[in-house]
Amino acid sequence: MSESQPPISARKRLVLRRPDDWHLHLRDGELLKAVLPATARVFERAIVMPNLVPPVATVDAALAYRERIRKALPRGSAFTPLMTCYLTEETLPETLREGQRRGVFTAAKLYPAGATTNSAAGVSDIHRIHPLLTTMEKIGLPLLVHGEVVDPAVDIFDREAVFIEAVLDPLRKQFPGLRIVFEHLTSAAGVAYVQAQSAHLGATITPHHLIINRNHILVGGIRPHLYCLPIAKRDADRQALRRAATSGDPRFFLGTDSAPHPRSAKECACGCAGIFNAPNALPCLAQVFEEEGALDRLEAFVSAHGAQFYGLPLNKGQLTLHRQDRPAPAPSAVHAGQASLQVFDPGFALYWAVGD
Ligand code: DOR
Ligand code: ZN
Repeated sequence: MSESQPPISARKRLVLRRPDDWHLHLRDGELLKAVLPATARVFERAIVMPNLVPPVATVDAALAYRERIRKALPRGSAFTPLMTCYLTEETLPETLREGQRRGVFTAAKLYPAGATTNSAAGVSDIHRIHPLLTTMEKIGLPLLVHGEVVDPAVDIFDREAVFIEAVLDPLRKQFPGLRIVFEHLTSAAGVAYVQAQSAHLGATITPHHLIINRNHILVGGIRPHLYCLPIAKRDADRQALRRAATSGDPRFFLGTDSAPHPRSAKECACGCAGIFNAPNALPCLAQVFEEEGALDRLEAFVSAHGAQFYGLPLNKGQLTLHRQDRPAPAPSAVHAGQASLQVFDPGFALYWAVGD
């Protein structure tokens, strides 16, 4: 940002380097077409999650999916999807080598089997993928982890903390050179763990985990559109996440985890996990950073730290945010064929808007 701009507290306009989203669910078919414009309007690149059915677990599947994403882009969009490989216990090291060599895979994703949406093909026993992790450490392909254990005896609110002890810490010790992203961090324990590690461990943080705690989901009635995994935790956790995101520490960066599901799949007896925040991710973040007195650190969190972790160039383009005198109207739903996709409601009025 140029030094001639007025102090941030007085600014009505914020010009940022164009952001990237380091964790995104784009889905496929009608849904893909409906949700992609919101991301492509704001973000230059995004790490695209591979949890389709069937999962994106081969080079060919990732190439074909990348092509479908490119075809669904609005005309003239410069958005670049960065593809990931879904790790299964059958994945071959050669698949990862080939995918990286051909410029298809930017990273590979570890879903503990049963941890979340479309994770059934994931990994039940981490030891079975040690040959893959050895290869990834060698070739420098980052490992993205959904950091929750699936043991039914472990309370849903403790699953991230237990994952650190039972899986992540042993993994870090066995593969110290492996670059790992602890995805969608939700707990103070997770923040403390990342802070205590080397630069080989980074973490994405979502806009919604900076805004909601578990009371927002459960007090006064169940709010299915605030249900995601890992689930939002106590307010002390939310506050720790806010401190991490606004600290300027380069190990923390934005991954929206925008995860759309049709309203009918959210508002039912057994609703799906996932929050669709792509349309208002940046206005929500600007407001959070403003509340924390850290607007001058927003650009690093959304536009620099992630690229630096992945060893990718920073974007050259810019994005302008305007602070308006009147709040934006409550977010309306996005339609995909017959389906309606509810946009994340932060529970407060949004004053920041993405401008041209
Ligand atoms: O809430 C979530 N939704 N968490 C995940 O890990 C997956 C995602 C989805 O794909 O819907
Ligand atoms: Zn996700």
